[in-house]
Amino acid sequence: MNPLVLPGVYAPQEDTDLLAGALSEEPLPPGSDVLDVGTGSGALALEAARLGTRVTAVDVSRRAVYAARWNARRAGLPVRVLRGNLFEPVRGRTFDLVLANPPYVPAPTGGRAPRGPARAWDAGGDGRLVLDRICREAPGLLRPGGVLLMVHSALSDPDRTVRHLRAADLKASVTRRRRIPFGPVLRSREEWLRRRGLLSGDENNEELVVVRAELPR
Ligand SMILES: C[S@@+](CC[C@H](N)C(=O)[O-])C[C@H]1O[C@@H](n2cnc3c(N)ncnc32)[C@H](O)[C@@H]1O
Repeated sequence: MNPLVLPGVYAPQEDTDLLAGALSEEPLPPGSDVLDVGTGSGALALEAARLGTRVTAVDVSRRAVYAARWNARRAGLPVRVLRGNLFEPVRGRTFDLVLANPPYVPAPTGGRAPRGPARAWDAGGDGRLVLDRICREAPGLLRPGGVLLMVHSALSDPDRTVRHLRAADLKASVTRRRRIPFGPVLRSREEWLRRRGLLSGDENNEELVVVRAELPR
């Protein structure tokens, strides 16, 4: 069943699918606690709930929260959907798995915070506005043996993600990669990305990566 997507809510795309593939390979005993941060339509939260896990989903967007709740109800799956900024709604809790498909696209925003639907993908000049926060805060949300699975673009520096997570004593690496044609957002700022040196002259597709980071027991 495809999730309902309201206008202004991120429709599941290649990044969602790449992360769903990584999720399907995690050995998660039923009853494991999963957090899906930046849940959008709830697509990944529903996938995790289908595996018999207990899922909490968070999004900053009212519309996304409404859509994810509606999709969970429609699918008959017990997903708890909370509205808030990143990990604020789950302060003090810990999880066996944290899923994140955050905004990660470098954006010529001139230092302004992204607004409206672009909040789902724009993430500052280097694409790391939310990624760096997740790298800092997610390790504290994991139980021993717990895993962070996060997808983002190779344009937003996966090596830095891996370095930050290793510095927090997590076992981190890129575990999945997929090349996809530019979507409308990247096409609209191709020139800017080339000027910044984020794209080379003839590059016309984007690489997505999944970073897996595990807190040793
Ligand atoms: C790329 S979309 C991913 C949606 C969904 N997880 C998927 O994979 O299809 C990113 C989502 O993160 C949400 N988001 C952006 N900044 C956030 C923040 N600071 N706290 C919580 N959610 C945020 C957006 O509203 C959007 O729904």
